[in-house]
Amino acid sequence: MADRYQQAYTRSMDDPEGFWGDIAKAIHWDKPWDKVLDRSNPPFYRWFVGAECNTCYNAVDLHVDEGLGDQAALIYDSPMTGGTQKTYTYSELKDAVAHFAGAMKAEGVGKGDRVIIYMPMIPEAVIAMLATARLGAVHSVVFGGFAAAELATRIDDAKPKAMVTASCGLEPGRTIEYKPLLDGAIDLATHKPDVCFIYQRPEATAELTPGRDLDWADAVAKAEPADCVSVAATDPLYILYTSGTTGIPKGIVRDNGGHMVALKWTMQAIYDVGPGDVYWAASDVGWVVGHSYIVYAPLLAGCTTLMFEGKPVGTPDAGAFWRVIAEHKVKVLFTAPTAFRAIKREDPDAKLMKGYDLSHFKALFLAGERTDPDTLEWAETHLGTPVIDHWWQTETGWAIASNCMGLHAYPIKAGSPTKPAPGWDVQVLDDNQQPVKPGDIGAICCKLPLPPGTLPTLWNADARYKEAYLDDYPGFYKTGDAGYMDDEDYVYVMTRTDDIINVAGHRLSTGQMEEVLSAHADVAECAVIGVADDLKGQLPLGFVVLKAGVDRDHGDIVKEVVKMVRDTIGPVAAFKTATVVTRLPKTRSGKILRGTMQKIADNQEHKVPATIDDETILPEIEAALESVGYAGARGG
Ligand code: COA
Ligand code: AMP
Repeated sequence: MADRYQQAYTRSMDDPEGFWGDIAKAIHWDKPWDKVLDRSNPPFYRWFVGAECNTCYNAVDLHVDEGLGDQAALIYDSPMTGGTQKTYTYSELKDAVAHFAGAMKAEGVGKGDRVIIYMPMIPEAVIAMLATARLGAVHSVVFGGFAAAELATRIDDAKPKAMVTASCGLEPGRTIEYKPLLDGAIDLATHKPDVCFIYQRPEATAELTPGRDLDWADAVAKAEPADCVSVAATDPLYILYTSGTTGIPKGIVRDNGGHMVALKWTMQAIYDVGPGDVYWAASDVGWVVGHSYIVYAPLLAGCTTLMFEGKPVGTPDAGAFWRVIAEHKVKVLFTAPTAFRAIKREDPDAKLMKGYDLSHFKALFLAGERTDPDTLEWAETHLGTPVIDHWWQTETGWAIASNCMGLHAYPIKAGSPTKPAPGWDVQVLDDNQQPVKPGDIGAICCKLPLPPGTLPTLWNADARYKEAYLDDYPGFYKTGDAGYMDDEDYVYVMTRTDDIINVAGHRLSTGQMEEVLSAHADVAECAVIGVADDLKGQLPLGFVVLKAGVDRDHGDIVKEVVKMVRDTIGPVAAFKTATVVTRLPKTRSGKILRGTMQKIADNQEHKVPATIDDETILPEIEAALESVGYAGARGG
């Protein structure tokens, strides 16, 4: 007999309307839908058309109305501030959210308005997101590690009425003042927000700009609590910008209805947790993992979500994760493999785990990059629980492939995120858009329509949405990942097909870094590649060719381009290494051979492409790589 995963998967393929329509009964709708799935305007599909709802109501108020008001909704644990801990019950969270929503409403924020949130990992970030949703407005959270110029791009695209920030963020050894970044971004942007709410942290207070800035605490103290505003299920809940193949980030749109339906269901079906369970996504609210699994999914499911302002190592040591799991009785942890590699490197025998009671802990979920077999084995051995690699993207909002622990636990195959989740018709296609045989590598695509919770489009950019994701494989969504499926339908995600690299689980575009490097006055052309790194998975590495006649010190130019990337994209780009070369290897048609350079850097077997213009450049590239600490070539 088919197991529960197979039953769910088959029904989701044969009868998506019935499958998701049944699941949607777990959501409180202000008005029911006319249609579960509107297929009238392909390739644009919409879920729960005609329905009205409010995401904040379902994530917070509903639990209070159902008698769970005294249950912990959010635990804040902050080694960065010397061990601050704070718990909000669902009633307390409702109160805080309603008051901040009231403060924004008093400043004119309403349905459909955009609110940019640029905050560190403090509860007020979650409160600001939920308060925006409460008003039927649309948030766009920007990760704190991005520089002012990146924030400015998002301001000009989203055109926010309001912005919300804090006086500072805390990184080990340094306090990052956010106010100068906010001011710098607003100066750079053409669009200007009407109002900025500033949450003052004691570690560094900010001077407010009169007539524009409001102190969070003052505004909340004066505010009347605001009620939830009903919106269409298809209205946007948020925009989350992610790296695209050019310097202009893509504004991924998430709707209200389909997002709630899918996310609430994943908590039970994928993560096997329910109301009252403590769920911890060790990520940041600025990433999709933070949106989906620090904020919305655990709260929709009535879990207790944990917000950790710290690092896996150094706050104070590599035992931090074990302390948090034990102290707060965490049942499921979700993080990126890089976090476990950092812990493993500092404490290879997991000695710091001793003395902690981890008996409540049931499973570790990893995503953001492929889980390497070493990390998988280390985590399994020391935790003694399943370690589940699952694959997803900012665009999809939840897992495309996972071992669905609440449906049926399949044997784990190292290197695979297991099988497509229900709702996902995953196919591996060749260049002629035809499915390949099991085991053969191709472009991993998902047949349209995508399940609920996934991107309906890009913000104000339907044409770019089609061009970026739908045009290459008509009838399919192109994930941008290449890989294969085996004869048991296990998915293997091997590499990106574009210029995106994953650095410490953070998604970055090498093309965007190249744009920054090219802007240097002395640079004629450049290339940025992602090279393998034991800790972060990948790191960016730049090659620059100088303009004729430039005879400045190469070390100075390298320092300047490194600083430019940090100042323009942000510290999160982790761009620290570049080297000057006389030429770049290219094909005869002028395409830079980034793949060959990356293989040389990673000391992988490689063949010099037959189309290379002039292979005498390769020894110089090898020498340049060796000079910055990367291995020489083995191929030829
Ligand atoms: N605000 C400002 N700066 C930030 C920041 C933030 N919110 N987050 C990171 N940065 C800075 C870091 O301080 C670092 O600066 P530095 O160059 O001066 O050292 C830089 O951005 C690069 O950060 P990162 O790549 O994260 O490196 P790290 O050495 O600080 O930490 C890990 C490495 C592996 C410990 C960390 O990335 C981690 O815990 N990752 C796993 C969890 C995760 O974030 N996953 C994301 C998606 S699930
Ligand atoms: P992001 O949008 O930041 O979540 O990054 C999405 C990209 O990260 C995917 O397209 C993959 O390239 C990569 N990725 C995420 N999770 C996994 C995984 N479990 N295995 C392999 N690659 C992954």
